[in-house]
Amino acid sequence: MTQPHSRQDKPSLRIALAGVGTVGAGMIRLLDTNAALVAARAGRKMEIVAVSARERSKNRGVDLTRFDWVDDMTALAARDDIDVVVELVGGADGAALTLARSTIAAGKALVTANKAMIAHHGMELAQAAEGACVSLKFEAAVAGGIPVVKGLREGAAANAIERIYGILNGTSNYILSTMEATGADFAATLAQAQAKGFAEADPTFDVEGIDAAHKLAILAGIAFGSAIDFPAVACEGISRVRAADIAQAKALGYVIRLIAMADVERSADGSDCLLQLVKPCLVPRGHPLAHVTGATNAVVAEGNFSGRLLFQGAGAGDGPTASAVVADLIDVARGESGVPFSVPVAELVPMAAAESGHRTGRTYLRFTVADRPGVLAEITAAMRDAGVSIESLIQQGQVAESEEVLVAMVAHDGPQRNIAHALELLGPSSSLTAPPLVMQIIAG
Ligand code: HSE
Repeated sequence: MTQPHSRQDKPSLRIALAGVGTVGAGMIRLLDTNAALVAARAGRKMEIVAVSARERSKNRGVDLTRFDWVDDMTALAARDDIDVVVELVGGADGAALTLARSTIAAGKALVTANKAMIAHHGMELAQAAEGACVSLKFEAAVAGGIPVVKGLREGAAANAIERIYGILNGTSNYILSTMEATGADFAATLAQAQAKGFAEADPTFDVEGIDAAHKLAILAGIAFGSAIDFPAVACEGISRVRAADIAQAKALGYVIRLIAMADVERSADGSDCLLQLVKPCLVPRGHPLAHVTGATNAVVAEGNFSGRLLFQGAGAGDGPTASAVVADLIDVARGESGVPFSVPVAELVPMAAAESGHRTGRTYLRFTVADRPGVLAEITAAMRDAGVSIESLIQQGQVAESEEVLVAMVAHDGPQRNIAHALELLGPSSSLTAPPLVMQIIAG
C-alpha cells in the first residue's frame, strides 16, 4: 500500500528573498524560530536559498552568510533552484515591479508586501499569475499581521460584503492618539514619532493618507469583486488636524481617526458604483474604532450573512508583517494557488466612482479666520445660503503668536453637497486664512 507523502519526502520550498529590511530580517528570524511548526503546517520545509538587497554589508541582526547573495535582484526570477520569490523591496514601480513581472513570467510564485505595487499594478500581475497558473500572494500588503486579505477572500467568501471601513495606517493612528493623550500639535507629535521610529523620515505617504488608500483599494477589490481603482480613492490625510480640533472633538464626545471606507452604491441607471475614501473623521467614543490607539490597525467588514466582522492587530513591524509573509509562503508550499483576488481578474467588475454629494450625516467644520468684524456673519451666511443648518458653533480664541482665530462648528445631519456648496461660496473670501478642515462625524 502506498503511504501518503510525509514532509521528509517532499522537497523543501526554495525561497529567494529580495529586500532585507525590517520585514525581511523578521521573516528570516521567524523561519528560524518556528522552523518545525512552519514545516508541519506547510507539509514541507522552507529553505531560503538566495537573498538580494541594496547593501550587502549592512548589519540587520540576522546571519545572511548562509544564503547565496545576489547583487542583481531581477536575476532571482530566472534561477532554476527557486520556487518562490518574496519581494520586500517596495515602491509601485522600478525594481519591485520588474522582479514581480519576471518572477511570474518565469512560472514562479510571488509573495509580496508591496501595497503600492498591488494597488497600481495588481490587476496586471494577477492576470499574468492566473495565465501562468502561479500563486500571487500579498497578505502582508494590507494591515501587517492582520489576516484580513485571507479573512475577506476565504473566511467571508460566502457573503456579499456591504461595506468595509477601518484604520489602515498605524503611523497616522499613532500620531492622532498621541495628540489626544498629550494635547500636543501635529508637527511636534510627528517629530516625536519620527524620533521614536514610529514614523518615516519622509512621512508623506502615511500622514497624507496615500498608504491607507493603497490598502483600501486592494481590500475593496477583494471585498466587492471590483476592479482595483486606486486613483478613484478620495484621499485626505491628517496633517491639517490641530490639537484644537482634537480638544473640540473630545468636548463633543468624539475622537479623531483617519478612516478608510469603501462602499458599493446602486446608481440611477442600475449599475454599481464604488465609493472609496480616506479621511480624518470624528468617531464616537463608544465606537470600536475609537478604542484603536497607537500603531494598531483595525478593519470592519459587514457581510450580509456574517454580520459585522472586526479584524484588529498590529499593522506594521517586523514580526507581524513577517507573520503575514510566511502565512502566504505556507499556502504556496501547500500548493494552494487559487486566484489572487476573490474572483478571476476577468470577472472583477470595473465600477465607476460613486458621487458622495447625496450622502448625509453630521459634519464638523473648522475655519481659520482673521479676527475682524463680520467674519462669523460671512461664514454663517454661506451656511444659510447653501442650506446647511448649524447645530453648534464655537469660536476658540486667538491662535498663539498670530492674528488668527479658530471657529469650529457642527452641522446638522444633511447632504454633503450642501457643505461643499457652502465652502465654494466661502472660497473667494479673504476672511479665511487657510482652507477649512471638514470632517464627517461617524454615526454611533
Ligand atoms: N507605514 C504603514 C503604517 C505600515 O504606518 O501603517 C506599512 O504599510
